[in-house]
Amino acid sequence: MTYANVNGSLPGAKSKELMEKWHKFEADATGFQAPVVWDHAKGCIVTDVDGNNYIDWTSGVLVTNVGHCHRHLVQAVQKASGELLNNYECPNDYRVAAAEKLVNALPSYLDKCFFLSTGSEAVEAAIRLMKRKTGKFEILSFEGGFHGRTMNAASVGGLAGPKKNFGPMVPGAIRAIYPNPYRDPFGFCDDGPQFNKYFDYLDSTVRANSTGCLAGVIVEPYQGAAGFIFPPVGWLKKLRLWAKEKGLLFTLDEVQASYGRTGKMWAMEHEDLMPDIVTIGKAIGCGVPVSAVVSTGDIFSCLQKGELSSTLGGNPVSSAAVIAVLEIYERENLVENSRQMGEYMKEGLLKIQGKCKYLGDVRGMGLVMGLEFVKDKTTKKPAPELIKTIITRCAEKGLLVGSVGVFGNVIRVAPPLVITQEIADESLGILEDVLMELRL
Ligand SMILES: Cc1ncc(COP(=O)(O)O)c(C=O)c1O
Repeated sequence: MTYANVNGSLPGAKSKELMEKWHKFEADATGFQAPVVWDHAKGCIVTDVDGNNYIDWTSGVLVTNVGHCHRHLVQAVQKASGELLNNYECPNDYRVAAAEKLVNALPSYLDKCFFLSTGSEAVEAAIRLMKRKTGKFEILSFEGGFHGRTMNAASVGGLAGPKKNFGPMVPGAIRAIYPNPYRDPFGFCDDGPQFNKYFDYLDSTVRANSTGCLAGVIVEPYQGAAGFIFPPVGWLKKLRLWAKEKGLLFTLDEVQASYGRTGKMWAMEHEDLMPDIVTIGKAIGCGVPVSAVVSTGDIFSCLQKGELSSTLGGNPVSSAAVIAVLEIYERENLVENSRQMGEYMKEGLLKIQGKCKYLGDVRGMGLVMGLEFVKDKTTKKPAPELIKTIITRCAEKGLLVGSVGVFGNVIRVAPPLVITQEIADESLGILEDVLMELRL
């Protein structure tokens, strides 16, 4: 049996019609995706409006960790939406239970959360908390970082996309280099776990750029949008200690890295990071819009009544989703499956790398991996021109992938955490076929 099944060229007739109509009415401002109009999806399999089936390596954009349209989640959302769709700034059964359940699922010192709607909104809240708690206004963040498209999030971000020609940005952002083991011209990844060269550089960056009003640090456990860049082991731990020694608050942006994506429930667990603040989004609702900022009661107490609020944050339907998603994690072995299937798929991807002259790097952990394409494995010159072909050819053969990267040359491998060996094998086969046909 095969899972992928695409008949004819893409986009199919119905997909084409919808794609053309779409931008008559909604602005054409989103990025490039496979020419496929999704109709419905279950687990790891997406069916388009023309009846073609695809194996999904996108999970939306790292959202549907429990698998598309998980029955338990769908039923919970249906039930809650029949009872109460919205209320504002007041508790309801679902909101209270969701907060209790989320806090209980976190490391125990993180004893409070606040629900919002998007990852960017959670990042905004984290920045507010860092500023208010310390009374300072500067935030240290990283080149290549992506924290969202709202103004504070874009300002601390280190990618051109969210801010180019949208200036000026919010003052106080100080950015440092995020160590990248694949592209490390300064040798910052070499001397772990001390990373003396890196931290000397970081001290000098702060000395040269700060007015003395540094409130905190915001960092991704791996850089997602920049190309799924995983820092060298021990660097995050050292960064966390560095921040603590300087009295800075430390925010870990787990909007995309949490809920088992990296093979642990929370990315912070890998190096026992104990961040002061954590931002969570995407898989917290597995498709239902919800996010959260998480911290300690002490840190949240810097806010007065009315200083953190959101029209849709904590609404009953989103809260029911938070509960249902965590119940699924309690019942199913998703985090362990992410770890095991991640190892299995990485092995397969490394074999493919050995055969494909353009696949320069395969990196990642759990079920989040990046495939970096280069013109030449020695010079590592990025090959973004291959990416549209890979995305389109994969879709034509029944595999959905997306792209990221500072140079636009990285393919994301991020299937729902329910992926099986059988589906992994079929999808790896499709990728290999496509990569073997590549020509520059
Ligand atoms: C690490 C990180 N932070 C924040 C965001 C912003 O989330 P949203 O698009 O839900 O606002 C994203 C989205 O991709 C992200 O990956």
